[in-house]
Amino acid sequence: MVYEGTWKGREVAIKALKCDNKTWVACLEREAGLLGACAHENILKIHGVCSPWLSLVTEYCSRHSLRAILDKARDGAFDECLTWERRVDMALQAARGMLHLHSQQPVILHRDLKSPNILVTDDWQVKIADLGLAKLEGVDVNGSHSLGPGQNARWLAPEIIPPQQQPFSCASDVYSFGVVMWELLTWEVPYSQYPPRLKFADYAVSRNINSSQQA
Ligand SMILES: Nc1ncnc2c1ncn2[C@@H]1O[C@H](COP(=O)(O)OP(=O)(O)OP(=O)(O)O)[C@@H](O)[C@H]1O
Ligand SMILES: [Mg+2]
Repeated sequence: MVYEGTWKGREVAIKALKCDNKTWVACLEREAGLLGACAHENILKIHGVCSPWLSLVTEYCSRHSLRAILDKARDGAFDECLTWERRVDMALQAARGMLHLHSQQPVILHRDLKSPNILVTDDWQVKIADLGLAKLEGVDVNGSHSLGPGQNARWLAPEIIPPQQQPFSCASDVYSFGVVMWELLTWEVPYSQYPPRLKFADYAVSRNINSSQQA
């Protein structure tokens, strides 16, 4: 859940944990650390973490997510301002944010890049958000290739989706970025013929994929 609030006179977003299980706490702590260490104009700025209701306080993006903007555009809003120039500019800003992550030593992979995690400010600045699933390349924080709580197969490279389960890489982030560019082109939700919360298990079931098909 994300709330709007004020902190030291400025508007902020307060992202509360859905529950306090250890996976979510670890995700939030990792997000705080990564956002704090990754200052860039196209990466969502973190102000801090607060407790006892463990929450992440970040800059507030009044236009919310790119997906929300595209949904409104499909309903006829933004006719005048969602021009080609604007959309190309948003894609470029998102690419700069991702390049910044991929340029860190060691490389930071996002692993959950999708239009709901690309936020837009009042003056159309783009911010890459939700680094909670990000990990440093080559450092396996969970000790296994586990799937994060929010990951959505619509934006995931095919080699990541079970039963393939190849490791995440810069290339798999770039695949997700390609899906976002497709959204900017069409305004459509990727694979909209599948259920709204398409997740790995649903995807496997809908495609009738099982382990015996793993070649
Ligand atoms: N910093 C922010 N400023 C303004 N709106 C935000 C901010 N962070 C999140 N939001 C809004 O809250 C919504 C929910 O964000 P949240 O990250 O909790 O879920 P999500 O990205 O939609 O899905 P998932 O749970 O898979 O990450 C976003 O889609 C966006 O519209
Ligand atoms: Mg999100």
